[in-house]
Amino acid sequence: FSSDSQSAKSQRVYTINPRRPNDYDALLKELIALDLTPKIIVHLWSLTPQGHTVSGLENVDQAQEKGFYSLLFLAQALERQNMTDRLQIAAISNNLQSVTGEEMLSPEKATLLGPIKTIPLEYPNISCSSIDVILPQAESWQEDKLAEQLLTELTAEFSEQIIAYRGKHRWGQTFEPVRIETKAEDAPRLHEGGVYLITGGLGGIGLVIADHLARTVKAKLILSGRSEFPRQDQWEQWLASHEQHDQVSEKIRQVKALEALGAEVLVVSADVSNLEQMQALVNQARERFGKIHGVIHAAGVAIPGEIRFRTPEIVESVLATKLKGVSVLETIFRDTHLDFLALFSSLSSISGGFAVDYVAANAFLDAYAHYRATNNNNDSLTIAINWDNWQQVGMALQSEVPEELKPFHEENQKSSISPKEGTESFNRILRYQLPQVIVSGRDLQAAIRQHRSAQRMEARVRVSPSQQFYPRPNLSNSYVIPRNQVEQTLADIWQQLLGIEKVGIHDNFFELGGDSLLAVQFRNNLQETFNKDFLTTDLFQYPTISDLAEYISREQVEQPTFQLARSRAKRQQDAMEEEIKLSEQRRKKRG
Ligand SMILES: NC(=O)c1ccc[n+]([C@@H]2O[C@H](COP(=O)([O-])OP(=O)(O)OC[C@H]3O[C@@H](n4cnc5c(N)ncnc54)[C@H](OP(=O)(O)O)[C@@H]3O)[C@@H](O)[C@H]2O)c1
Repeated sequence: FSSDSQSAKSQRVYTINPRRPNDYDALLKELIALDLTPKIIVHLWSLTPQGHTVSGLENVDQAQEKGFYSLLFLAQALERQNMTDRLQIAAISNNLQSVTGEEMLSPEKATLLGPIKTIPLEYPNISCSSIDVILPQAESWQEDKLAEQLLTELTAEFSEQIIAYRGKHRWGQTFEPVRIETKAEDAPRLHEGGVYLITGGLGGIGLVIADHLARTVKAKLILSGRSEFPRQDQWEQWLASHEQHDQVSEKIRQVKALEALGAEVLVVSADVSNLEQMQALVNQARERFGKIHGVIHAAGVAIPGEIRFRTPEIVESVLATKLKGVSVLETIFRDTHLDFLALFSSLSSISGGFAVDYVAANAFLDAYAHYRATNNNNDSLTIAINWDNWQQVGMALQSEVPEELKPFHEENQKSSISPKEGTESFNRILRYQLPQVIVSGRDLQAAIRQHRSAQRMEARVRVSPSQQFYPRPNLSNSYVIPRNQVEQTLADIWQQLLGIEKVGIHDNFFELGGDSLLAVQFRNNLQETFNKDFLTTDLFQYPTISDLAEYISREQVEQPTFQLARSRAKRQQDAMEEEIKLSEQRRKKRG
């Protein structure tokens, strides 16, 4: 239960303040002392009475306390209390996922997906799921049914991370590639001489999009960022008095290049999360250019780092630009018809990599675009574009990479989105009325896998984990180092799971101390990492990293998408049957 008061208890009912990290420690300490260490934690604070879920963005801050922050503080307390045993966290929410298209969505709850996706990457002993429901009428048969569904969900070891229950059906989230064709005519949403506001317009991607709009439609551009930028009449003097590689000088030259292409450009310093500053910016823009036709919300802040080091100040600086920024844009453009509002989100909101708050901020953008699509009945488009990493420009290049991970990052840069591919995708996407599109220049599952293993590796490289690692035991075979990324990822997971310093590719899982329980956890981990279905029995069939990696790579190459989808469905069904059998056996055992 949540309350502002000090934690209190009565007959195993505890009251804690979701805003106070120490309360989570106190609760866990007490449970450990009573030998009641939880194996499953069910988080219900994002389940709100029906009437409270329609509020859209008004409850953004309050939702963070009981959603994002409570899960963050819980994960931090679990670490502080040395809870390294296997644990399952299930966050149950309502009105978060768009499944039927008829839900009253509450996008402010979507930030809980940050911790849900990131915690298992940083703490391999914890598995997390988000279970979204629609609350039925109290005391109806549907309520009983939902309770039954949730109980099954929590006791049977299902593998999906993102789940929704709608009526009698259980939905899991998967992604399939589609081709968005080029059409002969120009993007109907971009006008010759159209007026476009780009928040974060002087950032890496913002300037690439600005260049594209200058070239294709000679746009009138409003580029905004928080940093001070010299007035136009001071540019020449600035250039003359600063070095060639001065960052502001480079941006001045880029803005001048946009003008040379025929664009008109207004650069304004304004924080997108500040309503007054943004209102002043929009007034100034309207005065100069007239009606604004489209908005690209490309402002973003990304601060690398693990959950254990996240403070509310860091989190707030990441969330504000996307959460408050969208609130501000919504307020300002409430009565204006925009041809489009493009929200620049990231693949991280799907994969869970980079940092917990960055994932959360982008998950919010995704959910907001779905919320708009549900509530919008005109042809105005709100779209979240989940970009994979970009090449040559932007924040993916700016973040500091630990020395050990540099070769891995350089390899990944090669398959990142080039500016040309990015603008071409942007152009195509604008022709459609879709709420969310993921853009990646490579196989999506490979991209997700890479994001996740990067996060796992960084979590291990940046800090020495509290988990103790033991030397590799003496085995009949000698140690052979992983030869490729799939093998490295598998070795990484085994090392964490088994607590062994280094695992060779011919080492047998069971000889290393793996058992059937660990096999179930490994299977879950594999599914999250490779976004693909595995059975626990696969591990018996392919008990070494080398065998398993070969099996994974073979399947990916051999099976075209629709076959994969079909075999996935079949395997899911088999796995579910297996899980149901197992849970029935467990139930019988418990009597
Ligand atoms: N680069 C990638 O590989 C990649 C991949 C996936 C998604 N994305 C997303 O794409 C967007 C653009 O990324 P980028 O790579 O171009 O990043 P970037 O180069 O760091 O540019 C982001 C810009 O946003 C501005 N900004 C940050 N907070 C702001 C605020 N509150 N108000 C106004 N401006 C603000 C920053 O300028 P000031 O500091 O001056 O405010 C900065 O110029 C981001 O939303 C990012 O999440 C990028």
